[in-house]
Amino acid sequence: KTRVAILISGRGSNMVSVIEAAKAPDYPAEIALVLSNRPEAAGLKRAAEAGIPAKAIDHTPFANRESFDAALDAALREAGIDLVCLAGFMRIFSAGFVEAWAGRMINIHPSLLPLFRGTHTHKQALAAGVRLHGCTVHYVVPELDAGPIIAQAAVPVLPGDDPESLADRVIVQEHRLYPKALALVAAGHAPLKDGRVDFAAACGAEGSL
Ligand code: GAR
Repeated sequence: KTRVAILISGRGSNMVSVIEAAKAPDYPAEIALVLSNRPEAAGLKRAAEAGIPAKAIDHTPFANRESFDAALDAALREAGIDLVCLAGFMRIFSAGFVEAWAGRMINIHPSLLPLFRGTHTHKQALAAGVRLHGCTVHYVVPELDAGPIIAQAAVPVLPGDDPESLADRVIVQEHRLYPKALALVAAGHAPLKDGRVDFAAACGAEGSL
C-alpha cells in the first residue's frame, strides 16, 4: 500500500476523514504518519488516539523556511513516505521542498479553484457573489493553490449565508472528497500528464468523482 503522511496545522477534521476511510481493507493507502508544524494542533491528539504515529515539528525555532522544510523532508523520508497529503497545513513551502515531492504531494483547498486562492476563501466567495462554491483537491506546485486539479465538489451559496455557514456546508464535501481523491492518486489512477491530471485514467477508474 502507498504510505501516506498527513500534514496538519489545526483541528484535523479532514485528517480524521482520511484516517477513517483508510481503515477499509481495500483502501489503497495506509496513513503512516501525521505531522504538524504547530505543537498545540488539536489534530495531533486525534491522530494519536487513532493509533497513528503523530509528531510536531515546530516551525518557530527554525532560522528560515528551507531549514524547517529540510527537517520535514527528513521525517518523511525516515518514515518511508510515498505520498504527502496536506490537510489544513497553513504554511508555505520552499520551492525546493515542493520540487522534491512533485507529483507526490496533494492538498485540499476550500474553494472551487482557480477561484479564491489563499485564505478566507468563504469570505472571498461571498464578496464575489458566486452562487456555487466548494472545494478542490490538487497536486501541489510552487505557486500557491495553483496545481493540477484532481477532484472538486460544489455546494450552493444560499441567501443569508455568512462565511461560517458556508464553511460548514463546504467542509461536509471536503470530508467526502479528500478520501476519494487520495484513493485515486494512491492507486495510480490520477497520473500527471503534461502538467495536468490525466482524466481519462481518472474517470475510467472512478466514474463520477
Ligand atoms: C479545511 O477547510 C481545509 O480545506 C483548509 O483548512 C481547513 C482545515 O480544517 N485548508 C486551507 O485553507 C489550505 N490553504 P481541518 O484541520 O479540520 O481539516
